[in-house]
Amino acid sequence: MSRGKRVRIRRRSNLLAVIAIAVTAGLLAIGIAASRSVAAGPEAARTEYLPSISDLMIATIQPRHEQLWRAGQDKNWEFASYELGNLRGAFNRLGLAHPTVHDILFPEMIASVTEKPLDELDGAIQSKDGTGFAKAYADLTSACNSCHQALNHGVVEIRVPSRTSASDLDTNRRSQN
Ligand code: HEC
Repeated sequence: MSRGKRVRIRRRSNLLAVIAIAVTAGLLAIGIAASRSVAAGPEAARTEYLPSISDLMIATIQPRHEQLWRAGQDKNWEFASYELGNLRGAFNRLGLAHPTVHDILFPEMIASVTEKPLDELDGAIQSKDGTGFAKAYADLTSACNSCHQALNHGVVEIRVPSRTSASDLDTNRRSQN
């Protein structure tokens, strides 16, 4: 066999080896993809996470309730209006995420207690009325508590924050009783 022929054969067998590796890798990839798509159903269901009502309360409702108070204190009506809109949106999404609680229609319950104080807050913010804001804010805070009590979560007591504590969570009242 001439040297040139030997080199050509070696080159061809190298090429074949590369093709073989590529085909194996391809098959492997297809195999992995297929096994993934088989697993996609139950796996997708397992990883889907629906935040609970309490998760949403501390993530989307409570901080906005507190920030709204700070905006009112500083008479930053533009930010108050922005935050009020976000609080409304958060209550709407909460109702969408949890349509019922203990067989009660949650969106209806949310609307029945929050709609009036939220509208009053809106009016006070539009007219830059600090006194009206304070009253409507206190009414909204009572609405938080009325729902907590109605749904057997009266242990969660919400208050109007103060300059000494910007937190709206009242953990103190019970221990004083
Ligand atoms: C329509 C009913 C409803 C309204 C209105 C409502 N909540 Fe709640 N909230 C709940 C329920 C129900 C829970 C308890 C959920 C659980 O633990 O399963 C809760 C729990 C909480 C918690 C405790 C969460 C935790 O994990 O520690 C906080 C804080 C809270 N709410 C804040 C507020 C604030 C602030 C408002 C008013 C701006 C408000 N909520 C209005 C129904 C409501």
